Amino acid sequence: MAELTRDEQISILKEKLASAKSVAVLTGAGISAESGVPTFRGKDGLWKQYRATDLATPEAFAQDPRLVWEFYNWRREVLKPLKPNPGHFALVELEKRIPRFTLITQNIDGFHHTAGNQNVVELHGNIWRLRCTGCGTVTEDRTVPLPDLPACSKCGALLRPDVVWFGEMLDPTILEAAYEALQFSQVMMVVGTSGIVQPAASMGMNAKRQGAFVVEINLEATPYTGVYDLNIQGKSGETLPLLL
Ligand code: OAD
Ligand code: ZN
Repeated sequence: MAELTRDEQISILKEKLASAKSVAVLTGAGISAESGVPTFRGKDGLWKQYRATDLATPEAFAQDPRLVWEFYNWRREVLKPLKPNPGHFALVELEKRIPRFTLITQNIDGFHHTAGNQNVVELHGNIWRLRCTGCGTVTEDRTVPLPDLPACSKCGALLRPDVVWFGEMLDPTILEAAYEALQFSQVMMVVGTSGIVQPAASMGMNAKRQGAFVVEINLEATPYTGVYDLNIQGKSGETLPLLL
């Protein structure tokens, strides 16, 4: 088949979306890049300057909670002044038009909620939520910086960010919601993710096997480029608004 132009790719996807009753979208750090949030594996990837393996693990938190909190306070400080971008807002519009729309994200920045999406499945948690290591209570708190070694107001135990760390399980209920969306989706868009971290990485193929038309939107090639039904290369903040 001759290579499709970008305009042709966009119009094929628009047509698919226009008739779809059920759509799933999976987002990664790339969708927030145009908001100014550093991605994980790019040139200025967060994890290259700060070794995630040292900081985003339950072991690190057990050993030096102050250091891990310093890292998360810093990330919260970086995020605080930033805002969702046109890519996020295009997904809000899309949700209004599609009867069954599920936005699955690996991002912890909370931008999909801030932008206004309703049905958001946060696979890796949310940096603006705190979880008690004692009683498990989860609260939302946007204070930056948080008090040194923040404590639970109910039981006094140490609070941690409500995010998934390396070596931790994803919440089974949340994972279930994601897989259910994949099962019913006629169209799936995989946006701004390098496709390396499981289980999110294989969700596009999962949907494709179950009959979905799967489209990747990414600035660069990924392991799935050429495997999905369409591959639209470009910035999500510029590409997603074209779908409306
Ligand atoms: P990565 O940093 O691995 O990948 C970001 C992807 O976004 C890359 O494929 C870029 O090409 C693409 N990208 C960058 N700017 C873009 C733009 N403006 N428009 C479209 N695409 C763009 O981030 P993730 O794939 O999200 O997990 O990383 C997955 C997980 O790895 C994260 O959730 C995090 C990390 O370890 C946990 O913390 C548990
Ligand atoms: Zn508690």
